[in-house]
Amino acid sequence: MAAAAAPLAAALLAVLLALAAPAAAEIRATAIRADPRTIIPLDEFGFSNQGVLELNVTGIAFDPPASPDLDLSMDVSSAMYNVDPVTGQRAYLSVGSSALPSIYFLFCVVYAALAAAWVSILLRKRTAVFRIHYFMLAVLVLKGFNLLAEAEDKSYIERTGTAHGWDVLFYIFSFLKGISLFTLIVLIGTGWSFLKPYLADREKKVLMVVIPLQVVANIAQVVIDESGPYARDWVTWRQIFLLVDVVCCCAILFPIVWSIKNLREAARSDGKAAVNLMKLTLFRQYYVVVICYIYFTRVVVYALVTITSYRYLWTSVVAGEIATLAFYVFTGYRFRPEVHNPYFAIDDDEEEAAAEALKLDDEFEL
Ligand SMILES: *[C@@H]1O[C@H](CO)[C@@H](O)[C@H](O)[C@H]1NC(C)=O
Repeated sequence: MAAAAAPLAAALLAVLLALAAPAAAEIRATAIRADPRTIIPLDEFGFSNQGVLELNVTGIAFDPPASPDLDLSMDVSSAMYNVDPVTGQRAYLSVGSSALPSIYFLFCVVYAALAAAWVSILLRKRTAVFRIHYFMLAVLVLKGFNLLAEAEDKSYIERTGTAHGWDVLFYIFSFLKGISLFTLIVLIGTGWSFLKPYLADREKKVLMVVIPLQVVANIAQVVIDESGPYARDWVTWRQIFLLVDVVCCCAILFPIVWSIKNLREAARSDGKAAVNLMKLTLFRQYYVVVICYIYFTRVVVYALVTITSYRYLWTSVVAGEIATLAFYVFTGYRFRPEVHNPYFAIDDDEEEAAAEALKLDDEFEL
């Protein structure tokens, strides 16, 4: 029985450790069936000084019963929470995540304000509005609803330990937001509706790769969140998610590179140096900003999660949301509808200067 007790003790021990980066901390029921692992970690949770762990283990069985390599089966239901020392209320979110509902709600209000501002711009500059500007509005609104669902989801978990269905809404809006944002970056990158009213075949192919991959990424995200960090296939799903995310991030850069190449070629042939230089600068800038956005929200935020104490986990969420907000604002500002198109007010001096700049530019490839 000593050998049999080892995995159980290890499982209990692992659950007691307060670790960084807790996923969805809540009331959880885990069914462990014929598990050969010697250590079965269950969950991560950031306890405060008043932390409580409830753990009910039933139906423990070993298989085969008389062999040294035992597979363990058991049903574990766990609840982890911190107790407020003043009110005595239970808080089911990790100590570093308890601020998240308010943070998400705050950002949701910011996006609502941005959406309202965007609507007023669209109404005022009605003659200069392209279809892509309505698409930008849709992206803003979906991002706002996504944050609202996340705020509700987290606040229900904080108060009751379960999400009460808000997680489903959160997944739906995450999915829609992901697809619409990637599509928007691709559409802007191709110059669709600004530079040309159609999509070339290879640009459509990028969308046909990115959209199904987003579906896969979202399924992986649901499995990752719902199963907890120590489920058997968690690592596999995590890897699928990261791989798909990297592929999507790379794929959305291609259309911008193609547009930059096209603009350079056009600059050589059509003799409108100033206009082309302006567009070229805009698309180059966008390319750099998209890379910064991807780098910050994937790499820097991940690094922050790793290096900050579990008590300050919310700081990495704030950093990621601020970067995302900056990206949305930049995109909206640089590609806003403009009635007085600067492309038409260019004199000869400017034209010559631009031609010189383009010549110089040829010496530095992207
Ligand atoms: C564990 O069992 C006790 C007694 O039956 C019950 O009150 C408690 O809610 C259970 N906890 C969990 C997390 O299932």
